Amino acid sequence: MDQILALFIGYLFGSIPFGLLIARLAGKGDIRTIGSGNIGATNVLRTGSKWLAAATLLLDLAKGLAPVLLAKAMFDQPTDLPQAAWGPAPLAALGAVLGHCFPVWLGFRGGKGVATNAGVAFGLSWPIGLIYAAVWLLMLALVRISSLAGMCAVVAAAVAAWLFGNVQYVPVLIVIAILVIWLHRANIGRLSRGEEPKVGGGR
Ligand code: G3P
Repeated sequence: MDQILALFIGYLFGSIPFGLLIARLAGKGDIRTIGSGNIGATNVLRTGSKWLAAATLLLDLAKGLAPVLLAKAMFDQPTDLPQAAWGPAPLAALGAVLGHCFPVWLGFRGGKGVATNAGVAFGLSWPIGLIYAAVWLLMLALVRISSLAGMCAVVAAAVAAWLFGNVQYVPVLIVIAILVIWLHRANIGRLSRGEEPKVGGGR
């Protein structure tokens, strides 16, 4: 029961479409009709406002962090595997990413989960979050391609959980990584053709 409640709480947080709301409130129109059509911070940046993109990034991150911390505070966490891998905290994490990617309020068409999963990573274990942020920022600085940087970060989180001995979080982080990469299939197509836009312009 705790697990179902945690999954639901995670989903409710994750399903708040901050990018869409922020862009609309700022008079930029429907973000789904701009750029890639994604509701995430990268696409909000394509409206021309760094501030709106930063706000989207922070709020999308917060809606991943909050339910995981809440699940840790509200529910007992199983300590033995395999139960620990699907305890309240990992399920709140999964719920948050599912909520962002498939929000009921937008006909289940949402974002790609990279920023929300950053918050999830920090909530599960802050060292995993630090690795996530470091890989994401380093790749962004090196290649300036948001989708590629995000996909590297989601994979790095699962590897970091395993290396740091947080093995109970490895399964959920692998499931999330597979989901996030699948949602980037159009980006992967553009990457393979050399057509994926860089952050700040250019190809
Ligand atoms: O977090 C989303 C990012 O990885 C890709 O966004 O708009 O370029 O498809 P976009």
